[in-house]
Amino acid sequence: ITVRSTNITAVGHAVPHAARAARNGHKGGVLWFTGLSGAGKSTLALELERELFTRGYQTYVLDGDNVRTGLNANLGFSPEDRAENIRRVGEVAALFADAGFLVISSFISPYRSDRERARAAAPEAFHEIYVKASLEACESRDPKGLYARARKGEIAEFTGISSPYEAPETPELVVPTDSLSIEECLARLIAYVDKAFKA
Ligand code: PPS
Repeated sequence: ITVRSTNITAVGHAVPHAARAARNGHKGGVLWFTGLSGAGKSTLALELERELFTRGYQTYVLDGDNVRTGLNANLGFSPEDRAENIRRVGEVAALFADAGFLVISSFISPYRSDRERARAAAPEAFHEIYVKASLEACESRDPKGLYARARKGEIAEFTGISSPYEAPETPELVVPTDSLSIEECLARLIAYVDKAFKA
């Protein structure tokens, strides 16, 4: 993106990362969930947020359906709008991580290039988590009835049906929601977080 402001000078923070991590008991970071609609991103993100909060983590979920009613209310589902959606969320997640939070971001984020840009916003802190379920599994779950509507042509550019999903090639973690239970997926996530972020 072209930076349009001129004559700007970034300031350094007075509180070092190590001091924030020491107080919180963990490092800040971004758990970037990606996966098809219906793969279980939101369910796992919210369960994980609760579990981590109970364990003393400073944590917060950024979720597509929520962010799209506020910060990103002016964006739809064209490739350009999805790119801008992910760009903004990537920057917000990087700010949260910088502030010491463990951000759980839950967006389809179907394009590899957009996810790589989000990673570049917080290169040391970014962990890509592939919430993996086959299109068949997601479509048979269809919790919001969106796949049925997309098949009927009522929703344009629906991911997996009429818009692409580019699966991660080297994610830091895969949680296969069509072969493991929610509890098992959650246990994997918690073990991963404790290893990667506990101070
Ligand atoms: S993206 O691709 O990352 O910008 O999408 P995201 O911000 O995660 O928003 C996905 C949720 O929007 C609803 N929805 C759609 N998804 C995909 N394609 C189309 N065309 C679409 N229209 C609406 C849907 O509820 C998605 O939520 P999840 O939780 O993934 O099912």
